[in-house]
Amino acid sequence: MSVLSSSSNLDLAPDIVVVGAGLIGLAIALELHDRGAAVTVIEHGRSLSEASTAAAGMLAVEDPYNRPELRLLSRLSAERYPTFLRRIEELSGIAVPFQTEATVQYLADGATMRLAEHSLDPRQLAPALLAAVKTTSIRLLEETRIATVEEATHGVDIRLTSAVVIASRAIIYAAGAWTAEVMAGLHGDAVAIAPRKGQMLRVRLPAALALREVHRSEQVYIVPRTRGPQAGTALIGATVEDTGFDTTVRTEDLGGLRALAAELLPEFESETDAPLVESWAGLRPATPDFLPILGACTRTGQFIASGHYRNGILQAPATALVIADLLEGKAPTVDISAFSPGRFSSRGEHRIRPIQ
Ligand code: GLY
Repeated sequence: MSVLSSSSNLDLAPDIVVVGAGLIGLAIALELHDRGAAVTVIEHGRSLSEASTAAAGMLAVEDPYNRPELRLLSRLSAERYPTFLRRIEELSGIAVPFQTEATVQYLADGATMRLAEHSLDPRQLAPALLAAVKTTSIRLLEETRIATVEEATHGVDIRLTSAVVIASRAIIYAAGAWTAEVMAGLHGDAVAIAPRKGQMLRVRLPAALALREVHRSEQVYIVPRTRGPQAGTALIGATVEDTGFDTTVRTEDLGGLRALAAELLPEFESETDAPLVESWAGLRPATPDFLPILGACTRTGQFIASGHYRNGILQAPATALVIADLLEGKAPTVDISAFSPGRFSSRGEHRIRPIQ
């Protein structure tokens, strides 16, 4: 049954509410808006300020170290990316180019394979997407917290801490690494999403190296920026750490990443040849099986679109399609049974065990 509308014309009121203005949340908001829904996005901080702009931006569709269950969703998303970027450009006037069009994948046995994959700069995508959203009727509420979510005949009533109540057909939790915290605060339920820290550095490209493609092993990736303000530099990432919401960057960890990168391309070993430009850490939303959680909770009108772990930039456009299809009562074009909200528990769709 559709929570958007009982007819083919979408009902413009009440709202659909998306929680989280990261790339996943805003991609969902834009897709729902384009299908005719009135959308409000509620963000407890600032839009696109966490994993969405900490990521390297690889669209790593064919990474052999990805879980195979991700392949179809990833391919759908990669196919959808040109349309997604065109829509953003149409609204914002800002073109977001692909930075690379190939990846050299290093395998454990020492062999390499060349993959036809793209990357983009999330720090170019973020301002373009935000500008695009701001040209639409999507209502974006930053620095805003939800106090309660209660079932109502039309779906849910969402009461903000300011006491404003938004009558909504549905609420979609897309708050990345904060999804569990948000849902636990509202319902007391344990949701199996936890932060996984990734430290990363950006260095100037060594003069002797005209790098045009991503180089990636299971342990490290080197992602060159070829266009825009970061052109002539490369990102080296990333650590995977279970340290809660900590985003400290440690010099010794950056040194470890540089050493791993130098195993692929020795030109990156020297800090003189490839000087540090900046470093940072972001928080990936991880589930126990490293697959996203996409779908309806047992609570009426409540959905989860989170847990994209290391592939959130890649999977945003397909996630938006899947969630919009579910809200319209349509079967998504890819099988999402592996991403079910209920898969970690026999006690109900969203009453799922915390990550180990
Ligand atoms: N998207 C790459 C990473 O998580 O490090």
